[in-house]
Amino acid sequence: MRVVSGIQPTGNLHLGNYLGAIRNWVRMQDEMKDGEQCLFFLADLHAISMPHTPAELHKATLEMAAAVVACGIDPQRSVLFNQAQVPAHAELQWLLNGTARMGWLNRMTQWKDKAGKNREGQSVALFGYPVLQAADVLLYQTTHVPVGEDQKQHLELARDIAQKFNNDFASEDAPVFTLPEAITPPQAARIMSLRDGSKKMSKSDPSEMSRIELADDADTVMKKVKKAKTDPEPLPSEAKGLVGRPEALNLVTIYAAVTDNTVDAVLGEFGGEGFGKFKPALGELLVETLRPISTRFNELLGDREALDAILARGASHARELGRPTLDAAYTALGLVR
Ligand code: TYM
Repeated sequence: MRVVSGIQPTGNLHLGNYLGAIRNWVRMQDEMKDGEQCLFFLADLHAISMPHTPAELHKATLEMAAAVVACGIDPQRSVLFNQAQVPAHAELQWLLNGTARMGWLNRMTQWKDKAGKNREGQSVALFGYPVLQAADVLLYQTTHVPVGEDQKQHLELARDIAQKFNNDFASEDAPVFTLPEAITPPQAARIMSLRDGSKKMSKSDPSEMSRIELADDADTVMKKVKKAKTDPEPLPSEAKGLVGRPEALNLVTIYAAVTDNTVDAVLGEFGGEGFGKFKPALGELLVETLRPISTRFNELLGDREALDAILARGASHARELGRPTLDAAYTALGLVR
């Protein structure tokens, strides 16, 4: 088993990233057996597909590295790096650009959402974004990719690209790429905004009240939970009673995810109660969960040298692990080197 996943360093790590992705990274790391490997990276090359401020990207990359370690990724056991220090990601993207089809990329919902009506005004990088994501994964003969629901379509595309490349340029008994599988945790694959239950919790939402960040202090967490949008009804005793109540469902889902429970089990405890009782319980649970993470996060941020060393070491390891596949892709395409 080879596990690979990434996160964009655009803003602070929030509860959606944590419950939808990073917590699952940590679980997979902790379950690794001898000979298996986890690689986790900061997708800084993806981050330049949207308008950005260089100084902010620089700072956010280091902060995200600290956040991922604070959440439990151990750089001694997992390979942790940023894409920009492993040029093979960008190189392989170019090689795969010959295989990816415009029509496939045009169908990506993230492209459609981000570009909106102004497709002509978007960067080429935003359009080609999923090909870089395919390169991230295919470079390492990855078998499993832990991601949230919103990234599943990009993973399907990576499989399509791998399959077409193998068909077009490799023999059946010696494929260049392994077809990766997306893994999404059963609970909390999708955490929604605290202000609008129909939108995912996101770093790009202009309202800070819409998300809980891992670096938020206890008072901020309590305030955001208490101000989260809800409805006046008490909680039902079964999950089906939450149909048509997206904000209520989201808060119960978060509680269930953090306690590793089902939504029904949470409702077994809180069914019949109003939000006046449920919100403080959820707020306290989150404060307790985030406290050790934010303490560690602040410690790590204070030691820039150690952070640089973690990323440099991870990048060097990743370059070594990716080299055979990159070489095989160049050779398969007939490129002279
Ligand atoms: P990104 O940076 O948007 O998010 C990182 C991870 O967090 C998950 N996630 C969520 N899960 C549940 N609820 C939410 N509200 C929520 N918001 C984000 C995402 O599904 C993701 O797993 N393109 C990717 C980064 C990437 C990548 C890769 C991932 C680049 N290359 C290769 C996997 C493999 C992205 O922008 O994720």
